Amino acid sequence: GCQPGATNSNEIVIGHYASMTGSEATFGQSTDNGIKLAVDEVNEAGGIGGKQIRLITYDDKGDAREAGTAVTRLTSKDGVVAVLGEVASGLSLAGAPVCQGAGVPMVTPSSTNPKVTGIGDMIFRVCFIDPFQGSVCAKFAREHEGLKAGKAAILTDQASPYSVGLQEEFEKAFEKLGGKVVSKQTYQGGDQDFSAQLTAIRSSEPDVVFVPGYYTDVGNVALQARKLGLTTTMLGGDGWDSSKLGQIAGSSIEGCFYSNHYSHEDPNPRVQEFIKKYNERHNQTPDGLAALGYDAARILFEAMKRAESLDGKVLAAELSKTKDFDGVTGNISIDGDRNAVKPAVILEMKDGKP
Ligand code: PHE
Repeated sequence: GCQPGATNSNEIVIGHYASMTGSEATFGQSTDNGIKLAVDEVNEAGGIGGKQIRLITYDDKGDAREAGTAVTRLTSKDGVVAVLGEVASGLSLAGAPVCQGAGVPMVTPSSTNPKVTGIGDMIFRVCFIDPFQGSVCAKFAREHEGLKAGKAAILTDQASPYSVGLQEEFEKAFEKLGGKVVSKQTYQGGDQDFSAQLTAIRSSEPDVVFVPGYYTDVGNVALQARKLGLTTTMLGGDGWDSSKLGQIAGSSIEGCFYSNHYSHEDPNPRVQEFIKKYNERHNQTPDGLAALGYDAARILFEAMKRAESLDGKVLAAELSKTKDFDGVTGNISIDGDRNAVKPAVILEMKDGKP
């Protein structure tokens, strides 16, 4: 048969679209590094069906239109058999319809908004979803010894589907657990001045401030909050996960918490082995994105090995059979909605690091 990307060649081409530059650049860079490690490993072990994997990565600059264009190029010009990406839910929502339309399976390592896999039967993820993440954060806010929050304020990026969705889930869960949301403020990703919102939050006297945003904005929010005398503990979701957060916010983010997919302090040998290999290849400690990129690529390769052909439908059917995969980010099984059911961790910022 004629297989796209696999014809007349001893290689199999896969694509990755990612924010390699822009205000969320570490998301794309870390994910790409995790994927590359997995690609190297499978190729060193002889590839898949005797063919080497070739990865094509396009920078979408964190822009939805660029994301759509990148995926169109991957599926129509490069003939990839599968696409990995994006991190940000808003960008996966731009790329997923292109993959769905082209009949090319897409695996997002880290987009947590439920709508992403709802695009269609070609779209998968290997991370948990935000109804879960929101309830984990709410439970932590209510029950953690140092917080025991009765009142929460929320600061949401209204331009980000991830932020808006996670805010809704947190609010629902927090109130269900008996807490009260005393202030809801919004911003637009990239804003520089948060003083009006932070002043309003300060007067609502919350016990915790939930900030479901991405690290660059969160860093700026933390800096400005402390300048305005708002010293309340801040809590966020996986969007905080970047080595840049501590660099931007310094001591302003000390003692704050966020939910994530993995901790580099997890003693599990599977995790420590990954950290060692990643460190040797990329000379840094992997963040959650790197771990998810690695897991997503490995799950894709396992499905490719099982598949009788690399036709999109056949490969998608194998992806949906993923069960009990022993990932760095936990045990991964793909459910009927093409989502993964997994545990979350809560990380605390200490000396600028999670
Ligand atoms: N979950 C975020 C989103 O859906 C992306 C993200 C995942 C960011 C993991 C950091 C770490 O937009």
